[in-house]
Amino acid sequence: MPGLGLTKAAGLVVAWTVLVALSAPYLSETFSQISSLTFIISGLPVPDHPLAKPLKNKTSMTEEHQQSCFCDLSHSYKTELVSLDPLIIYIHSLITPSEITSLLSTAEPMFKPSVVTKHGRQQQTQDRTSSSAGLPRDDPAVKCVLNRARGFMGTMLRDGWGEMGPPQLVRYRAGQRFNVHHDWFDRPLLANDGSNRVWNRVASVFAILQDNCTKGETQFPHAKPIISPSPWNEPMWRGGLEDQKLKNVTDLKPLWREHEDGGLAFRPVAGNAIFWVNLHANGTGDERTNYAGLPLEDGLKTAMNIWPRRYWPYE
Ligand SMILES: *[C@@H]1O[C@H](CO)[C@@H](O)[C@H](O)[C@H]1NC(C)=O
Ligand SMILES: *[C@@H]1O[C@H](CO)[C@@H](O)[C@H](O)[C@H]1NC(C)=O
Ligand SMILES: *[C@@H]1O[C@H](CO)[C@@H](O)[C@H](O)[C@H]1NC(C)=O
Ligand SMILES: *[C@@H]1O[C@H](CO)[C@@H](O)[C@H](O)[C@H]1NC(C)=O
Repeated sequence: MPGLGLTKAAGLVVAWTVLVALSAPYLSETFSQISSLTFIISGLPVPDHPLAKPLKNKTSMTEEHQQSCFCDLSHSYKTELVSLDPLIIYIHSLITPSEITSLLSTAEPMFKPSVVTKHGRQQQTQDRTSSSAGLPRDDPAVKCVLNRARGFMGTMLRDGWGEMGPPQLVRYRAGQRFNVHHDWFDRPLLANDGSNRVWNRVASVFAILQDNCTKGETQFPHAKPIISPSPWNEPMWRGGLEDQKLKNVTDLKPLWREHEDGGLAFRPVAGNAIFWVNLHANGTGDERTNYAGLPLEDGLKTAMNIWPRRYWPYE
C-alpha cells in the first residue's frame, strides 16, 4: 500500500514536471497576467517583468518607496467644469476602488457623531446628524489621495503657505443630513504651531466612497450652471452620461441636476468628487459656496472631506 502511494506521488511529480516544461514558454505571459490581476486587486504597481525584478522586501523599504509602491501612479481621473464663479469642478474617479477599501477599513473603528464649529467651539448639532472619522495623514492610502488632490490644485497652494489639511470621512444613514453651511471660517483661525500665522479653508474636495443610498445629494443652492437654460427648451448638458454609457449602465441618470429649490444638486457616486473654491481672491469667504448634504431616504453614504488650507501672516 505505501508503495503504491509513493508511485502515485512520483507520478504526480512527473506529471507536474511535464506540465511545467510544456507551459514554460508561456510562463512569463501567465505571470504578467497574474501580476496585472494583483495590480487591479491591490493597486500595487507591478514590475514590467516580475521574474527579472521580484517585488522588493516591503519591510526594508523607505517610506517614500513604500508610498510609490502603494499608489497607483498611473491612475487618471477626468474633470468637468460645472460652475465658473464660484469655481466648481466635477472629478470622475478621483479615488480608486482599492483606495476606497483601504480608507474605509482604516476609518471604520473611528466613526463618532459629527460636530460643527460654532462660536469657536466644536459641538454637536441637529444641523449635522452624520458621523465622522478623522484619517491619519501618514496612512498610505490617505497620502495617495492627498497627493493626487494636491496635484490637481496646482498653483492654488504654495509650499509653506498652503497644505492639504487633516482629512476626514463622513457617513450618513437614513434620515441623516447636513443643513446648508460653508466650509470656510468667518475669520481665519490662528495656527497653533507657534508660527504666528492664520489660515482658512481655501477650497474643498468632497469625494464619495460609498453610494449605496437613495437621495442624499449634495446641493449648492446658489450655484448655477455656466450656460443659462436654452430659450428653445433644449436639455442642458447632463454631466458624465457618456462616461456611464461606457460602463453599460442601463439606467442612465445625470450626475447633477438643477434642484427644484434652487442651485445644483450632485448625486453621490463612489470614486467621484466635487471640488470648489471657498475664498474670494481677497481671502474672504464666498457665500455662494454654501451647500447642504440632503437627507438620505435609505441606505448608506460615506464621503471624504479634504479641506486644503491657505495661511497668511498674522498681523
Ligand atoms: C526583509 O527586511 C528585513 C528587515 O530589514 C530583514 O530582516 C529580512 O531579512 C529581509 N528579508 C528578505 C527576504 O530580504
Ligand atoms: C449591456 O448589458 C446588458 C445586460 O447585462 C446586455 O444585455 C447588453 O448587451 C449590454 N450592452 C452593451 C452595449 O454591452
Ligand atoms: C472681497 O471680495 C469680494 C468679491 O469680490 C467682495 O464682495 C467683498 O466685499 C470683498 N471684501 C473685502 C473685505 O474686501
Ligand atoms: C445597500 O443598502 C440596502 C438598503 O439599506 C441594503 O439592503 C443592502 O444590503 C446594501 N448593499 C450593499 C452592497 O451594501
